[in-house]
Amino acid sequence: MDVRALIREEVLAQRAYPVETTPCRIKLDANENPLAIPPRLRERFAKLLASIDLNRYPEAGSVALASRFAAAFGVKADQVIIGNGSDELIQILCAALARPGAEVIIPVPTFAMYRISALNSGLRVAAVPLDKEFDLDLPALQEQLAAHPPALTFLAWPNNPTGNCFSRERIEAILKAASGIVVVDEAYFHFSGKTFLPEIDRYENLVILRTLSKVGLAAMRIGLLIGPPVLVHELHKVRLPYNLNALSQAAAGFYLDQEEAFLQQAAQIRGWRGELFSALAALPGIHPRPTDANFIFFSCDFDADRVYKHLMERGILIKNFNSLGTMRGYMRITVGTREENQEFLDALRDIIEK
Ligand SMILES: Cc1ncc(COP(=O)(O)O)c(C=O)c1O
Repeated sequence: MDVRALIREEVLAQRAYPVETTPCRIKLDANENPLAIPPRLRERFAKLLASIDLNRYPEAGSVALASRFAAAFGVKADQVIIGNGSDELIQILCAALARPGAEVIIPVPTFAMYRISALNSGLRVAAVPLDKEFDLDLPALQEQLAAHPPALTFLAWPNNPTGNCFSRERIEAILKAASGIVVVDEAYFHFSGKTFLPEIDRYENLVILRTLSKVGLAAMRIGLLIGPPVLVHELHKVRLPYNLNALSQAAAGFYLDQEEAFLQQAAQIRGWRGELFSALAALPGIHPRPTDANFIFFSCDFDADRVYKHLMERGILIKNFNSLGTMRGYMRITVGTREENQEFLDALRDIIEK
């Protein structure tokens, strides 16, 4: 039997989401928080997890948790749905909105999962290149919106991998022009401090995504969607009944109880980001782009593959975009601890001086 003949063409044509698995000493490739939960909280966290009845299903739909996050966001409980990472919420949105022939608009380059989830749901993807400053190309987007009104538009704010926030006015213009849902993905909110949350009741088509992955709980897979109640109601039908496991639900509650500690870490990372940016900018042939996230996108005048390989040999893993035609010469480094950043800078200096 030819199993491949049974699989949808869009799936066959894809490559699985690339995750680098090479062991490394210093991991700066996945935009994680480099810091563990503060030692003074670790025991309390361990006790909380140990108290969970693992023989029982978790609360279906994480309803209690959604209410707590809604209160924290200043919205109503029926405006929030929690996912197994924001990845799952992207998948749920795509699955719910994939009517026959429906389209998704994504500016490119951007976060890979928008395209992957859209294609897997049978949606058509219209990719609109960013302008030279990595901002939204508003005329091109408006043309696309008018020619093929999409069911969904994904805007990562700040954008991954470029690191910048698109200009607010352009996003507002898209919110006004789009008849479909516009997702403003604020995965890096803790490092940008910018949000569309106060606009949530102003635009019927606005959906905001948040995650706890970048602020310290990537392993727990906790994503949040804030949107109009009528949409959230439908999305609940698409999610799996127990999409968020009991340990993750408890971890999300713990985050809310101890948010200050996590926010302090984010502030520390923002400080390290500034230092890393200045040091990169001072290196000859290295051109970091302005960033509002916990990573820095930079181009280098040297062979990026060689730089990447040499860093790997020194046990330092970053993300290399060189093989993607439009991003030749570009790499992305997650902001690590001050010591990790220093090791990276020392290694980079050695490589480019060779
Ligand atoms: C823009 C953006 N959105 C969403 C995600 C996924 O986050 P999560 O870990 O919550 O699935 C990422 C992860 O890198 C991201 O860059």
